Amino acid sequence: VGYVTIRRVFGLLTSGGNIMVVLGLDLGTSSIKASLLEVDTGRCLASAQHPAREIPVASPMSGWAEQNPEVWWESTVEAVREACRLGEIESDRIKAIGIAYQMHGLVCVDRNGMVLRPSIIWCDSRAVKMGEQAFQSIGSDWCLSHLLNSPGNFTAAKLAWVKEHEPEVYDRIERVLLPGDYVAFRMTGQLYTTVSGLSEGVFWDFLSHEPAYPLLEDMGISRELLADVVPTFGPQGELTDAAADRMGLHPGIPVTYRAGDQPNNALSLNVLEQGEVAATAGTSGVMCGVSDSIQFDPESRVNSFAHVNHEKERTRLTVLLCVNGTGIAYAWLRRMMGQVMDYSGMNVLAGNAPVGSDGLLFHPFGNGAERLLKNHDPGAGFSGLQFNRHDTAHLCRAVQEGIAFAMNYGLEVMRSIGVQSEVVRAGHANLFRSPVFRGTLAALTGARIELYNTDGSLGAARAAAFGAGLYASLKEALDSLQCVETVSPDPAWAASCGQVYRQWREAGPDL
Ligand code: XUL
Repeated sequence: VGYVTIRRVFGLLTSGGNIMVVLGLDLGTSSIKASLLEVDTGRCLASAQHPAREIPVASPMSGWAEQNPEVWWESTVEAVREACRLGEIESDRIKAIGIAYQMHGLVCVDRNGMVLRPSIIWCDSRAVKMGEQAFQSIGSDWCLSHLLNSPGNFTAAKLAWVKEHEPEVYDRIERVLLPGDYVAFRMTGQLYTTVSGLSEGVFWDFLSHEPAYPLLEDMGISRELLADVVPTFGPQGELTDAAADRMGLHPGIPVTYRAGDQPNNALSLNVLEQGEVAATAGTSGVMCGVSDSIQFDPESRVNSFAHVNHEKERTRLTVLLCVNGTGIAYAWLRRMMGQVMDYSGMNVLAGNAPVGSDGLLFHPFGNGAERLLKNHDPGAGFSGLQFNRHDTAHLCRAVQEGIAFAMNYGLEVMRSIGVQSEVVRAGHANLFRSPVFRGTLAALTGARIELYNTDGSLGAARAAAFGAGLYASLKEALDSLQCVETVSPDPAWAASCGQVYRQWREAGPDL
C-alpha cells in the first residue's frame, strides 16, 4: 500500500506541472521494456517490462529461431500501458516515441500489412548457406568493401531462404521489415526503415550509398521489397487512432527515432565516436566500438554496420562483436537449477567459487550460428566437470567466466582491426550487475568498465527527444547520464584469469 501511495503522490506532483515526457521502447528477444523520461531533467519517471516471463523463441527445427511479431506488438501495448499507469502520466504529456529493437530479424508483410510467416529472428541459423552462396558468387572483395560483411546470416540471407524454400510466401511479400520497423508500422501505419536498419540486414552498400542492388540481384530479390528510408532521428510517422487507442495514448504522437538494440545501447551510453566501446550482456553479449573510417573484419567474425550518427559525408560505423548465448545461457542455468534462486542469488553463489571455477570451463555457444566462430554452431558445453568437486557455485561462476572469455576473445578480434578500447561502458544491468562477470571482463580485457544508470529504453527515449527537437543535440540529450560504478582491472585477477582463458581457448571450438 505504501509503495502505491508514494507512486501516486510522486505521479501527481510530476504530472501536475507543464512537463514534457518522451517514451522509449526496447524490443528485446525476451521482453519489451517501456520507459518514460522527463525531458527537462532527464529523469526516468516510470518503466515497465512485458511479459514478466521471457517471450518464447520457437525452434521447430534445429538451429531455427522464430517469434510471432503479434506478440511483440501486444507486449509493447502492455508495457506502455503499465509504464503510464505506474508513472501516472497524462498521455498528452508524451511528445515523442523512440524504438530500439532486436536486430537482423526478418518480418514479411503482404499488401494489407499482414504478417506472412513468423519472424526469422537474429539468432536463427537456417540461412547461413544462402549467405555463403552469395559471398562466393558476388565475390568476397566486393562484399567486404561494399557491405563490410559477408552476407552471412543476416536479414538478406534469411529473405533468400524464404524465396527458395517458401516461394508461395515470397510471392506475396509487399515489404520486408526489421522487428523495430514492424512495431513502428503497427503504431504509425507507415512502412519505413533506416540506413542503419538496411545495413544490419546487409542490404546497404557503403561505397555507393544506396541499397545493395548487386546483392539483391544475385539473390533474385526484387528491390521493391525494401521499405523507404527515413532518417534515424526525426519524424517517422504519427500514432494512428487505432494504435493510440490500444496503447492508451493520444493519437498523433510522432515516432522520432528507431535503431537496432546494439547501436542504441551505444548511443544510450554516449558511445558515438572513435575510441569508445559499449557493452551489453542481455540475451546476447555484445561489444560495440565506433569507427570513423571504413573498417571491417575480413573474416566477418565481428561486423560493421551504420551507427546511429552515420552520414554519407561523415562515416560512423558500429563495429560489433556478438556472442549469441549470454543472458540466455544464464537464464537456462537458472531454469535447470529449478528456478529456486533469482539472478542476484546466483551472482552471490558464483562469488563463492574461486577464479577458474576449480577447472570447470563453459563455452557459451548454444544459441545458433556464432558469427565469432565464422557462423559455426558448435552448441554450448561444460568441460572438466567433476562430480565430486563441482557444485552450483562452480556452475554459476563457470557460465559467467565463459561468457566473459568469449567477449574478451571478440574484443581481441576488434582490437586486431584497429578498434580502441581502454574504457568499456555498460548499463548497470543484467550480467553487469554481477561482480564476478564484470571483474573477469575487466581483468582479462585490461579495460576500465564504467557502469551507467541507463538502459536501452531510456536511451531510445533520449534519442526520440532529440529526434523531436526537444534537445538541441545528442550531447544535451545525454547530459543527465551518470556513471554509478567503475570497475578497474585487477592485476592479480588478470594473472590467474589469463591462465584459465588460455585453457578455455584450447578446450573449446576452433577460435
Ligand atoms: C547484434 C545481435 C544481437 C541482437 C539481439 O548484432 O545480433 O545482439 O541484436 O537483440
